[in-house]
Amino acid sequence: MRKITKICCIGAGYVGGPTMSVIAKQCPDIQVTVVDINEVRIAQWNDSNLDNLPIYEPGLAEIVGATRGKNLFFSTEVDKAIDEAQMIFISVNTPTKTYGKGKGQAADLKFIELCARNIARVAKDNKIVVEKSTLPVRTASAIKSILENTGNGVDFEILSNPEFLAEGTAIEDLLNADRVLIGGDETPSGKEAKNILSAIYEKWIPKDRILQTNVWSSELSKLVANAFLAQRVSSINSISALCEKTDANIAEVSRAIGYDSRIGSKFLNSSVGFGGSCFQKDILNLVYIARSYGLQEVADYWEQVIIMNDYQKKRFANTIVSSLYNTVSGKKIIFYGWAFKKDTNDTRESAAIYVADALLDERAEITVYDPKVTEEQIYADLDYLNTRSPEDNRRLLKVTNDPTLATQDAHAIAILTEWDEFKTYDWSLIYENMLKPAFIFDGRRLLNKGELTQIGFKYYKIGES
Ligand code: NAD
Ligand code: UGA
Repeated sequence: MRKITKICCIGAGYVGGPTMSVIAKQCPDIQVTVVDINEVRIAQWNDSNLDNLPIYEPGLAEIVGATRGKNLFFSTEVDKAIDEAQMIFISVNTPTKTYGKGKGQAADLKFIELCARNIARVAKDNKIVVEKSTLPVRTASAIKSILENTGNGVDFEILSNPEFLAEGTAIEDLLNADRVLIGGDETPSGKEAKNILSAIYEKWIPKDRILQTNVWSSELSKLVANAFLAQRVSSINSISALCEKTDANIAEVSRAIGYDSRIGSKFLNSSVGFGGSCFQKDILNLVYIARSYGLQEVADYWEQVIIMNDYQKKRFANTIVSSLYNTVSGKKIIFYGWAFKKDTNDTRESAAIYVADALLDERAEITVYDPKVTEEQIYADLDYLNTRSPEDNRRLLKVTNDPTLATQDAHAIAILTEWDEFKTYDWSLIYENMLKPAFIFDGRRLLNKGELTQIGFKYYKIGES
């Protein structure tokens, strides 16, 4: 079996950066080069101050600190890294299309195609190309077609190796993966390529957790895994609305059903709605694929997961407005959290963006505090929606570094991200600061209802009456 000594990863994002850092840590005999066309991002990965890495992820800075410059390299020299590597991971973004056929649903594969063309142009010897990005089922055939028409006599073996890490726990997920999935051709050379990639993971993942499938099952399984996870969140969120009407308590319901080992307890936390770069994108993609094969009922079934998620975000914003006497115009509302979940600086599709947008439409004045998200990012997220002018966004929404001081004369606090630090705040002092009645809208079920109502707050927790 061929031995891999040089890996290149195209795309130094939330997946490429952490994944390659862990491979470099676990395989000191392999030189790993992560390349990106984004010069700023590569400069941040190479910053001597590890606090300035482009991605916040617990445990990541330590691994980068230990491997960078030894067998882990970040570079903008894409062609050079492709040329030198025996194995190339493609880990670029695959966002939802914003134009043309499939707009708003299909995955935009232009970055993937550019990578394939780049590899085809540069490669002078045989390579294993690994799809790490999440891709629609049958994408490998498009990549293969581009690579095989290069005319420079190079043999490419294409593998699908989707990533299952979750942000905020990426390093832990990579080190102790439930499973690693490797899809490839059933031909002798396809099987050999799967075994070569498997041997890399076997350095730290037990072999019985490394699953080999055909390439199409692997591509489709990634979309389906995300759809099933998101479906659980939408399912429990739908029941949270019913709990609020019936005096049932969503935490008690989650616990009661989760104890059934067939259901299981994970991913049953009711929230203001799921966010993140992938759940929505991947389900929309699944819906698009199903529809394009004429499977209307299948498409409608999965689309409902997204519809329920949108409803949950709107429902939370509506609860804030109706509780504040049906008007939030000119009222100061503090947002605790902007990231789509705790322990990440990623804000893509965060529920906070949509709740803020709905409240700004009602002319609320919002002040946001998030421990890891920059002011620049918050405004970029709002501006991207194009609901109002950038000037109006900056006039109506402020960003603060001081979560307690910000509550001076506020009408309400809305909790949008479950950052642990929010639990440790001096809530009596915050209560003193605020206008009365002082409201808390807990979109993450983070705080203790008894303690807060004792202080005097009017406290709403999603999924409880
Ligand atoms: P990202 O946007 O953080 O990173 C992608 C990077 O690719 C960017 O830095 C971009 O500049 C670079 N890039 C784009 N085209 C390029 C090209 N032609 N050459 C070189 N660099 C190029 O995206 P991400 O969150 O890392 O996601 C990457 C893929 O992994 C997506 O398909 C996503 O669905 C999937 N995924 C993401 C997660 C997650 O938690 N974020 C988890 C599992 C799978
Ligand atoms: C998710 C999957 O968990 C990963 O396996 C997958 O690799 C990744 O998508 C991807 O393909 O990008 P991620 O989006 O990073 O990971 O984070 P999750 O922990 O899944 O959370 C997603 C959203 O659901 C967050 O907004 C979170 O707050 C919300 N959520 C999650 C709930 O509201 N309730 C829950 O019980 C769980």
